[in-house]
Amino acid sequence: TETTEMKRGIFILFEGADRVGKSTQVQSLFGHLSTTLGLPTKQLRFPDRTTQTGTIINSYLQNSTQLDDRALHLLFSANRWESKDTLLKHLNEGNSLVVDRYSYSGVAYSAAKGIDFDWCFGCEKGLPAPDLIFYLKMDTEDATKRGDYGNERYEKVDFQKKIKEVYESKLVNSSWNVINANRPIEEVSKEINEIVDRSIKNGIQNKPIQCI
Ligand code: TMP
Ligand code: MG
Repeated sequence: TETTEMKRGIFILFEGADRVGKSTQVQSLFGHLSTTLGLPTKQLRFPDRTTQTGTIINSYLQNSTQLDDRALHLLFSANRWESKDTLLKHLNEGNSLVVDRYSYSGVAYSAAKGIDFDWCFGCEKGLPAPDLIFYLKMDTEDATKRGDYGNERYEKVDFQKKIKEVYESKLVNSSWNVINANRPIEEVSKEINEIVDRSIKNGIQNKPIQCI
């Protein structure tokens, strides 16, 4: 209401390999924030396939375009940079964001191809940083058994194992929330909602928006 001081939005990110259930949990948390808690919330995903860079990325992912690995990495990064102002605007106007993949996907997938980790990470420095990160963790074999697996370029068991290895050895740190995703959807959602509720109670929105 008009009498309460407006708080900035919270930037919540979901990361993980393919087919671990990120999109389902993004939708579920979106419902929790917007409906249960009544917070203005937006749902976003990267790559954003609707922009010009997104169109090239999409055709690469569907195996219809070949591209140099570093050129592709820069396109994925540019795809985030071009939405930087929108992300900040949403947060500053009080909209929380539930985001499906971001900079860490960019680093994990490119480093898994053998590109230098620091080079990959460098492109992300200066982007708005998430306030909360959920890493959905699942055995590669279990993820690959899920519906529609194998339709896109990166959905191959050996490559998924490398991606998981980069996330878990170089990206996940003590500030991330590691979630066992190999459980019923509702159980996973419940754990995530509780972490979000607690973070809000602890004033996560009171600190300024950080940069990567
Ligand atoms: P999606 O399946 O979540 O739509 O993402 C498409 C694929 O792109 C997925 O295999 C992860 C990969 N990816 C990258 O390689 N680099 C990136 O920066 C992002 C955001 C995704
Ligand atoms: Mg996918």
